[in-house]
Amino acid sequence: MNNHHTSFLKVDDPVSGRKAISEAANVLRRGGLAVFPTETVYGLGANALDGTACTGIFAAKGRPADNPLIVHIARMQDLKPLVREVPDAAVLLAEHFWPGPLTIIMPKSENIPDAVSAGLDTVAVRMPSHPVARALIHEAGLPVAAPSANRSGSPSPTTAQHCLADLDGRVDIILDGGQCSIGVESTVLTLATPVPRLLRPGAVTHEQLCDVLGNVDIDPAVLHDIDAATTPSSPGMKYKHYAPKARIVLVHGTAEKFYNLLSQQEHGTVALAFEEDRQHVDNLGFGFVPYGSEQNHLEQAERLFAALRELDELEARLVFARAPETSGVGLAVYNRLVRAAAFDEVYL
Ligand code: TXA
Ligand code: MG
Repeated sequence: MNNHHTSFLKVDDPVSGRKAISEAANVLRRGGLAVFPTETVYGLGANALDGTACTGIFAAKGRPADNPLIVHIARMQDLKPLVREVPDAAVLLAEHFWPGPLTIIMPKSENIPDAVSAGLDTVAVRMPSHPVARALIHEAGLPVAAPSANRSGSPSPTTAQHCLADLDGRVDIILDGGQCSIGVESTVLTLATPVPRLLRPGAVTHEQLCDVLGNVDIDPAVLHDIDAATTPSSPGMKYKHYAPKARIVLVHGTAEKFYNLLSQQEHGTVALAFEEDRQHVDNLGFGFVPYGSEQNHLEQAERLFAALRELDELEARLVFARAPETSGVGLAVYNRLVRAAAFDEVYL
């Protein structure tokens, strides 16, 4: 798999950006692999209608074959060919949240290759809002299957440099569109259950989905470690995700209790905490990696994955992390962080 020449092209300048997007669109049409920015995280794209091209995604990422891919579209009329029928609820959701960070799971049509749906009879579809993602899908003239552009098991990439670090030599092209504004992956909602069900929290919140649809269940795997014997509704939930090399302990409780616990740890322990904690952690003499400020869920989401990568760069072995609040976008931040901590939590 390590046999691609990877072009790395910036898209910030309108003229060279257009050329780079054309080149990436050609890569997709030829059955190759193109990495591109979205508003959530970077995606590793292939032609969603070409099973062989999509198999290449799994090889490049080292992704288990039973974990299905999200199909990205640029216009509402591109949804119909992908699904058995367009549910009324999908039309309503699209009116409110597309283009944007919401993925909707629906019964699939026969146009979806098995590689994309990983043997399920459903397909996940999203219409991203990032102008580069939209231009690329539009110019390729294809639906684009794209998981996050990281090696399986590492944190999702929020910069093109993260993608290059994980995928150099494994993909044909990387479009550098700077830092992703949201920073956590899209909200995943299934309409294939009797009551719509949230499978992965994201920037479109459970509260917002309930406002539009009425009742929306939260899958148990969002908040809890599901045991290996249970089949999760979203196959991605059963894999260890976002895991830095360090052991992370997620600490619930006040800042004072956190400092107290930290002060009892060995030298070399690192705190993954809020900007407001910087001074105090410095004074205690421990390493400090911030992930946004305490009251700002959007900032926490934007920072979290880069912060997890920084922990690896610091070669941290033990990390104490301050738990975020779980309301609004905080639920998405908590969901990613508790997985990074492999559900190792303490309540003070
Ligand atoms: O923001 C995002 O969603 C990013 C950008 C690139 O769009 N993509 C992304 O893809 O996060 P990925 O593959 O890393 O995560 C997709 C998640 C996985 O947990 C997968 O198991 C789930 O969606 N999924 C995909 N298709 C599904 C299906 N048919 N049924 C249940 N879960 C599905
Ligand atoms: Mg992923």
